[in-house]
Amino acid sequence: MSSFQLRRLEPRDVDAYRALRLDGLLLHPEAFGASFEDEAKQPLDWFANRLAIATVFGGFDAAGGLMGVAGLTVPSAIKTKHKGILWGMYVLEQARGSGLSRRLVEVVIEEARGRVEQLQLTVVSSNAAAIRLYSKLGFVGYGLEKRALCVDGQYFDEMLMALALV
Ligand SMILES: CC(C)(COP(=O)(O)OP(=O)(O)OC[C@H]1O[C@@H](n2cnc3c(N)ncnc32)[C@H](O)[C@@H]1OP(=O)(O)O)[C@@H](O)C(=O)NCCC(=O)NCCS
Repeated sequence: MSSFQLRRLEPRDVDAYRALRLDGLLLHPEAFGASFEDEAKQPLDWFANRLAIATVFGGFDAAGGLMGVAGLTVPSAIKTKHKGILWGMYVLEQARGSGLSRRLVEVVIEEARGRVEQLQLTVVSSNAAAIRLYSKLGFVGYGLEKRALCVDGQYFDEMLMALALV
């Protein structure tokens, strides 16, 4: 049983969020559509604005350290606002295998319920831990985008996954 406290991140969490986000982008470039190079040069306000616009949940350890995050974006466009996007899933190495990642996905699903009809995500097809995590929580693969990401000249396919909420 993990002892992490989960809550929505607010603009006041921006320093911890920026550090965790950049750590993930740097250490796992193939796991995210965004890149360290693009986000590292953004000002702190840019990250604070993201926390204000998207719903990003964080898991904190007993000492108050931010150990993992997962985001939910709900589009405002009329034709796509029924589809939420789970993005930016990242758990620090020392908190892996602890149940935190599952709790983060669960809290995003709970938030999405009632706001959208389905939740979607993309995951690199070789990311076995993430695919297993999402599958255990009900996400089903519905497609594969070949050569979805190009990281330093190496291509990665992405699996498209969705969870029906209605
Ligand atoms: C993806 C991530 C959030 C998963 O968190 P985690 O704490 O490592 O997850 P868990 O240890 O609970 O593993 C999830 C499941 O995958 C399994 N698993 C872990 N590593 C595995 C591997 N290399 N191969 C196959 N299965 C694996 C676990 O046993 C667990 O399944 P179980 O519940 O049946 O035992 C975390 O690894 C991470 O932040 N990775 C880097 C960033 C990333 O990939 N983000 C996802 C972007 S889509």
